[in-house]
Amino acid sequence: MISAPSRNTTSLNGSWNVILDPTGIGERRQLWQEKKTELKTDFVEYSFEGGPQLKVPGDFNSQMSELTFLEGVVWYKKEFNYSISKGKRLFIYFGAVNYLADVYLNGEKIGSHEGGFTPFQFEITTKIKAGTNSLIVKVDNKRLKNGLPGIGYDWLNYGGITRDVYLIETGNTYVEDYSIQLKKGSRKDVLGWIKVNGVNKVQKIKIKIPELDLVYLTRSDTSGLARLQFSSAFKLWSPDHPKLYKVIIESETDTIEDEIGFRNIEVKGNKVVLNGKEIFFKGINIHEENPYKGSRAFSKEDATLLLSQAKELGCNLVRLAHYPHNENMVKQAEKMGLMVWSELPVYQHIEFSDTAVLSKMDLMLREMVSRDRNRCSVVIWSLSNETYDGTPNRTNALAGLTKVCRALDSTRLITHVTNSQAYSNNSFKVRDSLYKYADIIAVNEYIGWYIPWQGKPENTTWNVAFPDKPVFISEFGGEALFGNRNGAADEAASWREEYQKKIYTDQLKMFNTIPNLCGVAPWLLFDYRSLGRMHPVYQKGYNRKGLLSEKGERKMAWYIMEQYYKSK
Ligand code: GCU
Repeated sequence: MISAPSRNTTSLNGSWNVILDPTGIGERRQLWQEKKTELKTDFVEYSFEGGPQLKVPGDFNSQMSELTFLEGVVWYKKEFNYSISKGKRLFIYFGAVNYLADVYLNGEKIGSHEGGFTPFQFEITTKIKAGTNSLIVKVDNKRLKNGLPGIGYDWLNYGGITRDVYLIETGNTYVEDYSIQLKKGSRKDVLGWIKVNGVNKVQKIKIKIPELDLVYLTRSDTSGLARLQFSSAFKLWSPDHPKLYKVIIESETDTIEDEIGFRNIEVKGNKVVLNGKEIFFKGINIHEENPYKGSRAFSKEDATLLLSQAKELGCNLVRLAHYPHNENMVKQAEKMGLMVWSELPVYQHIEFSDTAVLSKMDLMLREMVSRDRNRCSVVIWSLSNETYDGTPNRTNALAGLTKVCRALDSTRLITHVTNSQAYSNNSFKVRDSLYKYADIIAVNEYIGWYIPWQGKPENTTWNVAFPDKPVFISEFGGEALFGNRNGAADEAASWREEYQKKIYTDQLKMFNTIPNLCGVAPWLLFDYRSLGRMHPVYQKGYNRKGLLSEKGERKMAWYIMEQYYKSK
């Protein structure tokens, strides 16, 4: 269900009743049945009424002190009334639930979903009843060995119904999905499709772009699919001119409005070109966290807060690490003129030989692409981060995933982030079997922090496999505690700002030695919560590689990066 927010929606956001279930016994108690007492001698050892409430959307860890470290189960309940008119259809839509969701309506299971960062919906047309309906969601954010991500990752595992929840009403046949983007390599030809879902699959379809006086007519076939092909003299979207057009998609039984930008992103030789012009990605890494609240970001305000800092730094790209962020981030980026690097949480240790993992990766990829395929801000799909060449079935699984991604969307760049490079005698040897499938070579390196320099940064040499592919330094940096200054700047263990600043000045010198460098992205914008970062004085459960503290205070390294981007 694409473009959910622009449909006929009823929000279920707000306070939900919850039952905290850290031992997981609620499953055995079958909480979704909401047993009631009948006899005087009856009693029930749970109730959704009279207990705590949590805000939806929002992670549960930051809402109640008992839940700060919870990686387990919370049961949510929302009651609502809905009267559905004849011939209409009704869906329940979740922007994201981290990590496992079991959804019940009026005591009946209507579906489950795995994956904490992509939307899903279930049809409830025949399950809704007149009067009060009871929606119960079991949320479990326990880490799974065969999960995406797996057991180990360096961010706070926020659980909960972390994004918007809507009821969506449609006609009996609705526009389920569409792709309206410029054809690869063209700046005026749109090549796309519309998919309708329902009983009358063969429909007249109209695409309107009022500002261009464009009306394009087509028709869907018996499978509900309509192909699109039209041209116009679009004002192309770019960071400097983030032009969006109102696009109206009309079938005989449904109308959707969207704001779509038209642009082209390609690799030409060893360069990346946007709308035919070479571009250097002035990136920054961002986790989906509101630093001031120490909670999952989800709102338009959160997105504006994070992206405004990226703009102030002088960025033209944000790497939304390490999972698809909420739609507000991607849409605000479009409006603010920021390109987006969107990434799957195929992070480090993944069980690639478990066939369940392969289908989970496939589903998550489809959900990510389906939600954002019309978002011109998204220029790169990153399908993995720091997985290892030697892991059984890893390259085969990710090569297959890359192929599916290209089939789903031929208009964007695709990459895999690696950190398997060898660094010796001040020389980088960059090899990975995945590079064959990637449009750009993305490398995380932390020389100057995790690994000391072996010589002058400006004398670094590089030996990169696929020497004709553009190279992107997708992570670099080091830690510092804001305000920790004027001390020994040559000791990593003092977490001084001067030490972090030196990492940056050295890295910038090294960047001049990298062949085909198409961009860089410091790790990262804000200090953020990660419980494995446990130094009691300097970290306190925060990864301190931010250019900003979690209070938005600029560390000395910020100014090095700001200057560098100004000079590019
Ligand atoms: C890794 C990883 C990040 C992590 C960072 C760090 O490269 O991709 O998720 O937070 O390094 O160690 O801080």
